[in-house]
Amino acid sequence: MEPLHSLAGKVAVITGANAGLGYQTAIQLARAGATVVMACRSVERGGRAQGQLQAEVPAARTVLMQLDVSEPASIAAFGREFNNRFERLDLLVNNAGIVGIPLARNSVGHELQLATNYLGAFALTGTLLPFCSGDGPVRIVNVGSLSHRFAKLDLDDINWETTPYGPMRAYARSKLALLSFTMELNRRLFETDSNISALAAHPGFAATEIGKDNNLMNPQNPLGKWFNSKMEALIPSAAEAARSILFAACDESAQGGEYYGPGGWLEIGGEPDRARLNKTARDCAVGKRLWTLSEALTGASYLSAI
Ligand SMILES: NC(=O)c1ccc[n+]([C@@H]2O[C@H](COP(=O)([O-])OP(=O)(O)OC[C@H]3O[C@@H](n4cnc5c(N)ncnc54)[C@H](OP(=O)(O)O)[C@@H]3O)[C@@H](O)[C@H]2O)c1
Repeated sequence: MEPLHSLAGKVAVITGANAGLGYQTAIQLARAGATVVMACRSVERGGRAQGQLQAEVPAARTVLMQLDVSEPASIAAFGREFNNRFERLDLLVNNAGIVGIPLARNSVGHELQLATNYLGAFALTGTLLPFCSGDGPVRIVNVGSLSHRFAKLDLDDINWETTPYGPMRAYARSKLALLSFTMELNRRLFETDSNISALAAHPGFAATEIGKDNNLMNPQNPLGKWFNSKMEALIPSAAEAARSILFAACDESAQGGEYYGPGGWLEIGGEPDRARLNKTARDCAVGKRLWTLSEALTGASYLSAI
């Protein structure tokens, strides 16, 4: 891909930077001169990825910090460590994600896809917002998914307490929540005349490890294996698919409150462009209600009075 404009002196945090799209985003930002905080849940996997990145880009400035986005205590610890080590944040990419797992919950009872793909991003954003108040423009980029378009956001039972759980429905819903949050965050920031904008991007399809241990995404029966082997050739590489995330993060034409993705057939691949957004994500009443709910669930409270 074309080199990004210089990001020298900028600090970027990427969650899930040790693999797939997060790693590809990290390496491009590092190439452009940013200090890249690789926020990874496993120090071992993160260390390996950091070593690989430094080998590919010897001049890269990377910092590995432990973060499990599904755990509120880990987010709080990350915030304290970030405070000890940095004074500013110019870019946050909420990328970490999981897909299609059987029902599981984090240590405080939140359904794990919701906790990882959405609530963690909500809480981390609030934790890091105080570092974003410098004079230059700051972006918060949330990584969505095509699947959100087919989701329904049930705000009466967002945590799957009573509704029968569906692994892919829960994934799609967590991404719709993330996109509704992105739009509401951008509205709230705009109303405070902030230098920060919030926007989102999805990769289309990307050849990464996501869902590889998962029978739904990666069936082990002969038909499923055959189908996946045929599909593999059509799926863009992680480097290719990360372009829409990098576009949202760095391109001068990308704007707060927008959603970007590959502009080709069905938004599966192609040049970054505006992407189709489920209209629920632009519904202000839903955005406000989700915000209040998210504050109650996570205990993270910010931009609340707006
Ligand atoms: N690949 C696609 O086709 C596709 C399509 C649409 C959207 N997306 C989205 O793109 C994002 C990146 O996915 P990917 O395809 O690059 O998948 P990936 O290769 O599996 O990478 C996911 C990253 O997220 C990290 N992660 C998972 N749970 C975490 C947690 N609790 N705390 C911190 N980090 C955590 C993983 O860390 P570990 O190594 O420790 O597991 C890994 O670094 C996700 O949000 C995904 O939903 C992907």
